[in-house]
Amino acid sequence: MGDWIISIDIGTSNVCALIGKVNKYSQIEIAGRGTAPCSGLKKGVIVDIDSTAASIRKAVGEAESDANMRIDSAYVNIHGMHVNVVNNKSWMSINGREITRDDLDDILRDVRDIDKPEDRQLIDVIPRQFIIDGYDEITDPVGMVGTRLEVDADMLVGKITSVQNIIKSMERAEVKLDGIVAEAFAAAEICLTPDERDIGAVLLDVGGSITDISVFQGKRLVFYDSIPVGGDHITNDIAIGLRISGAEAEKIKRQFELALTSLIKNDQEISVLDINENKKKNVKVSEVVEIIEARVYEIFSLCKSLLDKAGISIPQEGGVVMTGAGISYVDGCKQLAQEVFELPVRVIQAGQIPGVLKPEFVASAGMIKYVATVKKGGSRASEIKLKKQEKAKSRGSLFGNILNFLKKMF
Ligand SMILES: Nc1ncnc2c1ncn2[C@@H]1O[C@H](COP(=O)(O)OP(=O)(O)OP(=O)(O)O)[C@@H](O)[C@H]1O
Ligand SMILES: [Mg+2]
Repeated sequence: MGDWIISIDIGTSNVCALIGKVNKYSQIEIAGRGTAPCSGLKKGVIVDIDSTAASIRKAVGEAESDANMRIDSAYVNIHGMHVNVVNNKSWMSINGREITRDDLDDILRDVRDIDKPEDRQLIDVIPRQFIIDGYDEITDPVGMVGTRLEVDADMLVGKITSVQNIIKSMERAEVKLDGIVAEAFAAAEICLTPDERDIGAVLLDVGGSITDISVFQGKRLVFYDSIPVGGDHITNDIAIGLRISGAEAEKIKRQFELALTSLIKNDQEISVLDINENKKKNVKVSEVVEIIEARVYEIFSLCKSLLDKAGISIPQEGGVVMTGAGISYVDGCKQLAQEVFELPVRVIQAGQIPGVLKPEFVASAGMIKYVATVKKGGSRASEIKLKKQEKAKSRGSLFGNILNFLKKMF
């Protein structure tokens, strides 16, 4: 597969698969894309492995035909409600000699040693910087000389059941697992500028039934959580509020794509089918938009109170960045978010990201960028994998190592 990276975003609404790479100009190139509706998840949790696996197979099959390539293995995402990112540091004495790859293996083994609850397992170790005798921001210390080597790493720790269900769904779909990526890292890679990640920014990813909230500051992820509310709740509210079917509510939502009554240009009447009385009736556009507005406002308010509770404050030079199909299509979300967060707000326009085209693909595209820059680039975690790869006789045994790591590291 050469440099190609395959990413699979397992979502409550859709599974999205992309085959892509990052070129020498740091731009994403997409060779193939595939989507499949997914009904194997409830509130962001895999509850039906067979059905999730079938959606993975379908999305992957579509991406394969699109790219005219065969997919062997892929990276998948995991939401904030299933993972924590724990920062840890470790150090070792070097005694003035050259730092070797074995030293890195040792220090990265040490840094993994964190306390975690019984229901959690380690998913990944992401070294962010190495420090030699006080000199920081070193990405590759091999060959350097020093007396003290330190590592500053992010540990991705996931709920065992969630991680195992992802592994099982991939196994059943017969797609090998390259790794599990926290959705926040993937989305941030493509949605946030380096300045935003440094000054401070809130990233909201509003999907079908989950909203991921992450905060980056000082180039690090400092907050990561999810709320079990998303675009499908807007549809539900419309269905209940107007007494119409879920399918009709979804259709109307997509027809108007509006979350602010003040933006309505023509408050016309539309005809809908009342499911209680089984007869047509007229409702005004403003009735629909009022329902959307209330739910979107509530989603933002819930996110804001989570941040307030955690004592997070974002400077005005930073702001809020929004992505996810649950919100990206809907006009007026930006104004509502500005009102709730009292910060500048930016909505990611998927069309402006080369090859991405639709908001549904932003998370998978982010995974490709993340893997290309963090995992395959400067990160020493990838060195561990490469070392294992050299030792392993076949691709199968490399996969076996990673899979065993994920299966056993808890
Ligand atoms: N044109 C549109 N207008 C308004 N909402 C839309 C539109 N297209 C899709 N949506 C909404 O986007 C939501 C799905 O978003 P997305 O594809 O990002 O979710 P997901 O990743 O599958 O789910 P999750 O991340 O919650 O597990 C659904 O609620 C759907 O109704
Ligand atoms: Mg999603």
